[in-house]
Amino acid sequence: MQKKRVIVLASGSGSNFQALIDYAKNNDISYEICGLIVNIPDIYAIERAKLANIPFKIISHKSYESRADFEIALHDALIEMGAQIVVCAGFMRILGADFVDNWDGKMINIHPSLLPKYKGLHTHKRAIEAGDKEGGCTVHFVNSGVDEGAIIGQAQVPIFENDNEQDLAKRVLEKEHKLFPFCLEMVASNQAKLENGKCLIDGSEKIISL
Ligand code: GRF
Repeated sequence: MQKKRVIVLASGSGSNFQALIDYAKNNDISYEICGLIVNIPDIYAIERAKLANIPFKIISHKSYESRADFEIALHDALIEMGAQIVVCAGFMRILGADFVDNWDGKMINIHPSLLPKYKGLHTHKRAIEAGDKEGGCTVHFVNSGVDEGAIIGQAQVPIFENDNEQDLAKRVLEKEHKLFPFCLEMVASNQAKLENGKCLIDGSEKIISL
């Protein structure tokens, strides 16, 4: 079967982008990382794309007068790069309904909390301050709500008494690097599907747990 063309959106160091590249290199799977789009010009994710010989584009949100104009440019670039699946890997822009609806069931995101807990920013700090004993990460389909789309998979880590934000972030990030490629492969191979706003895994409503 033809591999699905994946385009990654990133705004930071791109360690998740790297994990997706490495997984594709080391396994016989259903997706191919065909491009990277970043909205910040000097991030390390670009170096990773260069090292892996993956085409990249810089589309700075600051170059556009409105969010709608930025999203039109983003959409056009995804089409030009032949995207079949869009992966948000630390992409720090909120995307509007007009954009997201075009990629319904074909766009996924990783979030560093056990959703529905701690949508938005500072997830680790909030989990520690709440006295949670467990943190983790979630991969979900993207809809027009922030961190609200149907959940595909989650991975848990313990939170220890003396953990600070960085300790927890590091522990969760290691899990992100395992969960994300696994969930992407489930989507690319059609084992995970979005139907009526719900994620079905092999036809039934459940969540991948790593
Ligand atoms: C990850 O923790 C991801 O969950 C969050 O931003 C971070 C990105 O890290 N949305 P990286 O750029 O993949 O290294």
